[in-house]
Amino acid sequence: MTPAQALRSIEQRVLAARLPLQETAKRLVFGKGDPESSVLFIGEAPGAKEDEQGVPFVGAAGKELDKLLRGIGLGIKDVYIANILKYRPPGNRDPNEEEIRAHTPFLLEQVKAIRPRIICTLGNYATKFVLGGMSVEGMRGVPGVTRLHGKAREVAFDGVVYKVMPLFHPAAALYNPRLRASLEEDFEAIGRLLRGGAVDEKRERQTGLAAFQEGRGG
Ligand code: URA
Repeated sequence: MTPAQALRSIEQRVLAARLPLQETAKRLVFGKGDPESSVLFIGEAPGAKEDEQGVPFVGAAGKELDKLLRGIGLGIKDVYIANILKYRPPGNRDPNEEEIRAHTPFLLEQVKAIRPRIICTLGNYATKFVLGGMSVEGMRGVPGVTRLHGKAREVAFDGVVYKVMPLFHPAAALYNPRLRASLEEDFEAIGRLLRGGAVDEKRERQTGLAAFQEGRGG
């Protein structure tokens, strides 16, 4: 089965599943982009525009993400983008644990189908879920994205090692020039990773990632 076929089959199963938020959302927002990309972006949850169109990152945050990708010579079609939650929470409220637990098995199937080299996590929820070992239980022990952004680390899942790059959520950077500048810098780091550059260990030590890794034995 090709990654595209695998994704279509997962999407059919999400559509057939009974999931929290399904009743209040207009449409399933499954994912978009190149199923064979080496880069997978994981956001939090669909917003109003995404809910209308059934496509992730088509609103203001999506435009920002587009610009950041273009800054490192990539387009939205060169990557794959999915979310922690597949349906929009009412009023864009934060996801709760029960919703994350119910929706993420499908995200994990997407990860296995795409098998990207690099997973970029957008914002706190995606960062905590992925760096927590792709589990809801693991999320609690992971610091926020403010502490972890821009520093790649590795996460093993289902026998495969993925490079993970935590990033601020582009929606948070929309009205905050300092976060926007940080995001641009962190996208440069994605560019370096794609070109095969090593993880910058000195910078990691300075920003406390080492302590986090020791704490988790990672
Ligand atoms: N924010 C997200 O995290 N995901 C989307 O799909 C849109 C906005």
